Amino acid sequence: MHVILLGPPGVGKGTQGVLLADAMGWQRIVTGDLLRAAKSAGAPLGQEADRYMSAGELVPDQLIIDMVKEELAALPAGTGVLFDGFPRTEAQASAFSMMLQALGRAISHVVVLDAEDDVLTDRISGRRSCPTCGSVYNVALAPPRREGVCDNEGTPLVHRLDDSAETVQNRLSVYRRETEPLIAYYGGSKASVHYVRGDQEVGEVQAEVRSVLGLGA
Ligand code: AP5
Repeated sequence: MHVILLGPPGVGKGTQGVLLADAMGWQRIVTGDLLRAAKSAGAPLGQEADRYMSAGELVPDQLIIDMVKEELAALPAGTGVLFDGFPRTEAQASAFSMMLQALGRAISHVVVLDAEDDVLTDRISGRRSCPTCGSVYNVALAPPRREGVCDNEGTPLVHRLDDSAETVQNRLSVYRRETEPLIAYYGGSKASVHYVRGDQEVGEVQAEVRSVLGLGA
């Protein structure tokens, strides 16, 4: 199964993606995480991308397409894959279809998560992430067991630079302008498009996502 998780910043794509991929043994391709890892490693791609990410703008399509092509080529055959944060523009979606076709893969489902902007901004302002394992917490809604450190390996948690109030407003408008139109794009494709309310409890969202994908509880 090849699934795209589509939705605005803060709606819970990462949170739901980790739960689903862990339960199903799927691979995740998360373009935001790949870009942040490239930046931490001091790679030229990370430095180039950082200019756009810190302003809440999209990284140029060709950089993203080349990066995803490399990730796809390294995937073991026959694995389920979850795409989080990609594609984000029609140019990316159309390059993506061609890449998948060349590999004998295809998107089977698109799951659209959404919530009101005030829910999204509240969640983002409280988000803390683990730079080692990628686990995501929220100081108010999903705190770690010990304040400020990751439950898994005790790494100090960080607040993403692009989670500042001004940048978040821009990320939301960029999403509505550039990425939301992909719902209609996939509506006209062979993939099934499903809507799930992202403003429910984490477990409720996960149960609904699994249900629309036809997976057991
Ligand atoms: P990216 O890293 O993809 O960020 P995003 O899409 O803005 O999404 P977020 O990571 O902010 O949110 P999420 O939906 O994963 O929510 P999360 O689960 O963390 O992209 C960052 C930047 O990279 C972009 O702005 C762009 O510059 C660049 N980029 C990336 N991909 C690109 C592409 N394809 N093309 C061009 N540029 C690209 O949850 C958020 C918070 O809420 C957490 O604290 C969590 O604990 C909490 N939470 C989650 N679910 C719930 C719930 N149900 N109830 C209560 N709290 C919850």
